[in-house]
Amino acid sequence: MTKQFHDQPLNAAALDQVFNEARSYNDWLDKPVSEEQIAAIYDLMKMAPTSANMQPARIVWAKSAEAKARLAEHAMEANQPKITRAPVVAIIGYDVDFHEQLPWLFPHTDAKSWFEGDEQGRETGAFRNSSLQGAYLMLAARALGLDCGPMSGFSNEAVDKAFFADQPRVRSNFICAIGYGDPASIFERSPRPDFDRFNSIV
Ligand SMILES: Cc1cc2nc3c(=O)[nH]c(=O)nc-3n(C[C@H](O)[C@H](O)[C@H](O)COP(=O)(O)O)c2cc1C
Repeated sequence: MTKQFHDQPLNAAALDQVFNEARSYNDWLDKPVSEEQIAAIYDLMKMAPTSANMQPARIVWAKSAEAKARLAEHAMEANQPKITRAPVVAIIGYDVDFHEQLPWLFPHTDAKSWFEGDEQGRETGAFRNSSLQGAYLMLAARALGLDCGPMSGFSNEAVDKAFFADQPRVRSNFICAIGYGDPASIFERSPRPDFDRFNSIV
């Protein structure tokens, strides 16, 4: 494929949609999200980078009322309606045995051998890279005109049993409600630090 040079910033409206005006929503408009939209989110997020292209995220998309109720059971009380009222909630898990997939995901070298016998290293790599993938998921959803409500207030152990029982090497990271956010459900924007506060250029 011919390389395309994308050396111009996105326009201001796009940057506002994905960053400046995007918010974390607590309630949702009564507007569904389709399976095609879910697949479109994944097809964008998978293109963003992970270490050795390990792609450790394993995502269960809770879309049915039954699945959302089952997920909400294991969440903090305040998070329960944020789950049951959302059109879909992505449960972002990570596969501690992601290295088994590396022969096809990173075919130009024997990357699987780097991780064999190093479960602690795999846990670190899978958690780091699935967190990145969760962030990519949110940016992809926003780029596609959807809103997000990320949450970590739930029992990971209980969610693992409820949703990853058939994949015992997968552990949940965080969840993200997706839909069309109700503007009445957000708080005033919390402060964001100026560059000088937490950055240095050396
Ligand atoms: C990983 C993660 C976990 C979060 N957990 C919760 C949660 O359990 N419940 C909740 O209401 N909000 C949760 N939030 C939402 C944050 O409080 C929110 O994204 C942050 O305050 C920024 O809000 P804004 O995007 O509207 O500016 C979580 C966000 C992230 C990224």
